[in-house]
Amino acid sequence: MGEIGSAMDEKLLLELLAEAKLRGGGMILNVGEAPEVVVLSVEAYSALLAGKGTAHAPESLASLGTVPEQKTQTVLVTGGAGYIGGHVVRLLLDSGYKVVALDNLYTGRREHIPDGVTFIEGDVRDINLLRDVFAGYKIDAVAHLAALLEVGESVEKPFEYLDVNLLGTIKVLSAMQEAGVRRLLFSSTAAVYGSQSLVPIPELAVCEPNNPYGKSKLLAEKAVEYFTQCGELQATVFRYFNVAGKGAGLGVADTHHRSHLIPIVLDVARGSQEQLVVNGGDWGTPDGTCVRDYVHVLDIARAHAMALKAGVTEKFSIYNIGTGKGTSVHDVVQVATEVTGRMVPMQVGPRRAGDDSILVAGVDKIKKDLNFVTEHSTLEEIIRSSWAM
Ligand SMILES: NC(=O)c1ccc[n+]([C@@H]2O[C@H](COP(=O)([O-])OP(=O)(O)OC[C@H]3O[C@@H](n4cnc5c(N)ncnc54)[C@H](O)[C@@H]3O)[C@@H](O)[C@H]2O)c1
Repeated sequence: MGEIGSAMDEKLLLELLAEAKLRGGGMILNVGEAPEVVVLSVEAYSALLAGKGTAHAPESLASLGTVPEQKTQTVLVTGGAGYIGGHVVRLLLDSGYKVVALDNLYTGRREHIPDGVTFIEGDVRDINLLRDVFAGYKIDAVAHLAALLEVGESVEKPFEYLDVNLLGTIKVLSAMQEAGVRRLLFSSTAAVYGSQSLVPIPELAVCEPNNPYGKSKLLAEKAVEYFTQCGELQATVFRYFNVAGKGAGLGVADTHHRSHLIPIVLDVARGSQEQLVVNGGDWGTPDGTCVRDYVHVLDIARAHAMALKAGVTEKFSIYNIGTGKGTSVHDVVQVATEVTGRMVPMQVGPRRAGDDSILVAGVDKIKKDLNFVTEHSTLEEIIRSSWAM
């Protein structure tokens, strides 16, 4: 090559580097038949110096294409022993991430944590523990799922919900800020919306939550936004709609058998609960029962993996995750009866405090920005997967 710096050589250098990156960070140039020159990206060269690459003399371009290894990202999943957390942990592990799961096992289960994941039993409100976790593991990103999430319970224990959902989130954000960890996926909920006149509900809707659970999560979203505005944090907030279903063979169960419709309906079909008591039949919906947007837990987990992979375009963004389709309690019971071949006796009871009438996701934004559409979220697939033992 001629003198570096001339316009011609700079163009050549850029082409070589682009080619090297395509080949995994480096390539060999032959002079005649013999390999003579190695071109490495700075990233690849630094990794090689740090001993992370495979320091053997490659015999061919193909072998050099694997040198050095891509840096493995480590994700801290709070609430990783929970129902959704357990699925997120597995998908991230399968996608090549290292995973550290933190959970106080309040509703989570130790057996939801698969081999290969570092499990830490502890509370997200324990700032010293969080400091230890960030100091002990090189965390690149956090998926913060740990929370309390029962609407009815939140009406009875509003301050506990504020404590775990807001204070716990602020502790996680503070520890991330101190440790210089910049990337956050935050689990929020459709409950932040409250009653809305425009359905499906777009992310820009003015949030007026009807229960302490939704209020505590909305406050937590504001705290996340605050850290993105005042610090280096880059956050993606996911507002999940009604999560249900199960990943086959993962051994992760839905833990919400007292409050969430689909687990209760299937318990009734199995005979382990006597009957379904419907929370109100006078909601002003087509059949009088509440309408929700059911989304398969595998689709929720996929959205997390896709957001991590996509990187960041905005410092703070909010996405609904749902299907855009509404399903009433009667619809769920009908499909459950068809899928299970069992009767689901039901009785209409009073409305539950804090409930919303209709919650259906507007899904245009997540489709446009993350190219995300649900793949597993027909009601039949959701119920069939939950029914399978
Ligand atoms: N399940 C749904 O339909 C749904 C809908 C919208 C949003 N979400 C959100 O998804 C997230 C996960 O919910 P899930 O359905 O898996 O519920 P889950 O109860 O199975 O999971 C929550 C996990 O957080 C853990 N946890 C609770 N308090 C903690 C604390 N102080 N410190 C550490 N760990 C703690 C629990 O032990 C549990 O493992 C929550 O943030 C929830 O608000 C869930």
